[in-house]
Amino acid sequence: MRPDPPVFSLISRFQQGGGFLKRLTAKTADRHWLYERSVQNPDQEIPFIRRVFKREYGRHPRFLREDFCGTALLSCRWVAAHGGHTALGVDIHGPTLDWGRRHNLKPLGTAAQRVTLVQDDVRHVSRPRADVISAQNFSWWTFKTRRELSGYLHNCRRSLRDEGMLLLDIYGGPEAQVPQLEEREQDGWTYVWDQDTFNPITHEIRCLIHFKFPDRSQLKRAFRYDWRLWTLPETRDLLEEVGFRKVVAYWEIADGDGEPSGIFRPGTRGDLAPAWVAYLLAYR
Ligand SMILES: C[S@@+](CC[C@H](N)C(=O)[O-])C[C@H]1O[C@@H](n2cnc3c(N)ncnc32)[C@H](O)[C@@H]1O
Repeated sequence: MRPDPPVFSLISRFQQGGGFLKRLTAKTADRHWLYERSVQNPDQEIPFIRRVFKREYGRHPRFLREDFCGTALLSCRWVAAHGGHTALGVDIHGPTLDWGRRHNLKPLGTAAQRVTLVQDDVRHVSRPRADVISAQNFSWWTFKTRRELSGYLHNCRRSLRDEGMLLLDIYGGPEAQVPQLEEREQDGWTYVWDQDTFNPITHEIRCLIHFKFPDRSQLKRAFRYDWRLWTLPETRDLLEEVGFRKVVAYWEIADGDGEPSGIFRPGTRGDLAPAWVAYLLAYR
């Protein structure tokens, strides 16, 4: 079993290396830029998506829909990774999509033509049907009732091609229910994951992201999430109820020192980590 890993390090499970900006301050920094580098790592996620899809269907996926895409980093890296890849990013927030257009799509050049961004509720988009739908960084926890989440998952299923796969990430463990602050040093700033409140009756959880800088300035509440902390078995049940043929949990294995390795394997028995991140893969 791995030693007590802080929740934040699991949330940013694929840490990025190599920053170069040392003189960031709350005034000069851009919260989306910081978020992408603190939390996301599409360069590890894309090979994972390709591998688990191919394991099921014997071919690589081509068309990715990124739900809750935010700045569409994953979509942009997806099309950059392969000339045959196309992507559809869906997010409800226009200004965040605009940021992604400026900072992620534009640098792609002609490959940007293979990315479509749609400003809408993810529950309202079902065409064109995708090989893969990815809903990451727990964004699907925005749906707090069984009816809402079920409606979303049902829409995902009907948005997939016959050979299609939905990827959800999920975290849990006893520490996931404990209000706490966790800090991680980045190259030029500190990322702070703030599990602010948790209600054990409803499982509603409020989380915040703050950034701190070497000059002691701070971007407090740069991001705020009002979620329901869904458990893995209830999510699996819902995926099966809406008709997914096969649901597989990918659990993160520990490295030689008992630390989270960033490597996920299909499994039916998890270790008793105080906090963990896993993937649920649902095959249409
Ligand atoms: C945690 S961010 C995810 C950003 C990025 N995709 C990632 O993996 O880190 C959540 C995003 O979901 C969007 N969002 C929330 N509810 C939504 C909904 N019902 N439909 C579409 N987008 C939604 C927000 O605008 C926000 O950009």
